[in-house]
Amino acid sequence: MKQPSEIRPAEGKLGVLLPGFGAVATTFVAGVEAVRRGLAEPIGSLTQMNRIRLGKRTDGRTPLIKDFVPLAGLEDLVFGSWDPIPDDGYTSALNAGVLQKEKHLDPIKDFLSAIKPMSAAFDTDYVKKLDGTNKKSGTKMEQAEEIRADIRRFKEENGCERLVMVWCASTEVFLRPGAVHETLESFEQAMRDDDPGIAPSMLYAYAALMEGVPYANGAPNLSADVTVLEQLAADNGVPICGKDFKTGQTLIKTILAPGFKTRMLGVSGWFSTNILGNRDGEVLDDPESFKTKEESKLGALEHILQPDLYPTLYGDLYHKVRINYYPPRRDNKEGWDNIDIFGWMGYPMQIKVDFLCRDSILAAPIVLDLALFLDLASRAGMGGIQEWLSFYFKAPQTAPGLYPEHDIFIQHWKLKNTLRWMMHEDMVTHLGTEYYD
Ligand SMILES: NC(=O)c1ccc[n+]([C@@H]2O[C@H](COP(=O)([O-])OP(=O)(O)OC[C@H]3O[C@@H](n4cnc5c(N)ncnc54)[C@H](O)[C@@H]3O)[C@@H](O)[C@H]2O)c1
Repeated sequence: MKQPSEIRPAEGKLGVLLPGFGAVATTFVAGVEAVRRGLAEPIGSLTQMNRIRLGKRTDGRTPLIKDFVPLAGLEDLVFGSWDPIPDDGYTSALNAGVLQKEKHLDPIKDFLSAIKPMSAAFDTDYVKKLDGTNKKSGTKMEQAEEIRADIRRFKEENGCERLVMVWCASTEVFLRPGAVHETLESFEQAMRDDDPGIAPSMLYAYAALMEGVPYANGAPNLSADVTVLEQLAADNGVPICGKDFKTGQTLIKTILAPGFKTRMLGVSGWFSTNILGNRDGEVLDDPESFKTKEESKLGALEHILQPDLYPTLYGDLYHKVRINYYPPRRDNKEGWDNIDIFGWMGYPMQIKVDFLCRDSILAAPIVLDLALFLDLASRAGMGGIQEWLSFYFKAPQTAPGLYPEHDIFIQHWKLKNTLRWMMHEDMVTHLGTEYYD
């Protein structure tokens, strides 16, 4: 990737397009509006709250990231969505049950009610546990063309200078990349033929890339993670990234596992189980959608612990992930981890983690950061896969053949060094010998 010589300024409105207008998407837009009205703080967002060290430790230069790189301001964001369920933002947020009605939804009811989802490219073959009335019809190609028309209309009607798209829709059934995902010809022919290898999420990704709109995938389904769309992103100079927002249990896993590894402590077992009762939990109750999620959740430990390089410590690791749909919990998931570790001379120890988390509260700032950073990458002329955003994902998208970095601290370092690199500042290596010269 070429170092940007200049970054176009973030002038005018940035449209944030959200396929899926459920718990995560509505918590995100409601939060941005609450921050804009001075009713809340953007906690969890690096773009809004994190500082970045520049130069030496003794230089005292630690601006906020948003003052260092030219990001779109929250006041310039406008939101659009698609969902087969026709509920407006207020109704959908009430139904999601994440934010309190009196405290956080009613004060911005006018704003939320005004966002009505466009008709979705949706198919119950790919998401089996829900259905709605707000759907497109026609061949897959016709639906992709309609999404492209939606994108252009949204941009025009809202006076947007630029757009980004973040997939916040349900997890689709497990699909493997195949011949139809290889070339643009085979992919477009497959869309015309309604080939089962083309999932709805791919239609949004294709439409976005054809319209020059950066695309992030917050769910574990393939979507833009196929050869043809990666190539299209690179050819059209459009940034893409994915997959599956790193929240909840995997976030904790990628915080803890690097710790064990750095101290050369062994791990013999890691059993993770979850109960959750939101619509996402219901969709994941379908074994085929769960399989997509399971693949995404299992990869992280393997890559962090590198059992091939450290067989004595991690060669026999037994890793199990369970997700159980339990309606009373709604969005307030509980994730238990039992971790069997071992130390000096093989003596065993156990760690138990019980994380009473709120999925969408953890995911919302990720959506914001991805929207702003993808827009930045686009203005910096950085097309194709944005591996520096792997910080936000459970299954980071990388160049073909390259294993992903899952260690959250490496990911964080990479993200910040990429920002320094974009702005032609020195990398921070933490070597620090100069302080002792
Ligand atoms: N909340 C988290 O912490 C978290 C973390 C990682 C990934 N995710 C993923 O983010 C996604 C959203 O999660 P959520 O809790 O908001 O789920 P949700 O069920 O509340 O919302 C998803 C919405 O997507 C809609 N939808 C499904 N297929 C669609 C399509 N083809 N086009 C447009 N809309 C479609 C559904 O009707 C639903 O309203 C899920 O895939 C979930 O697995 C969430």
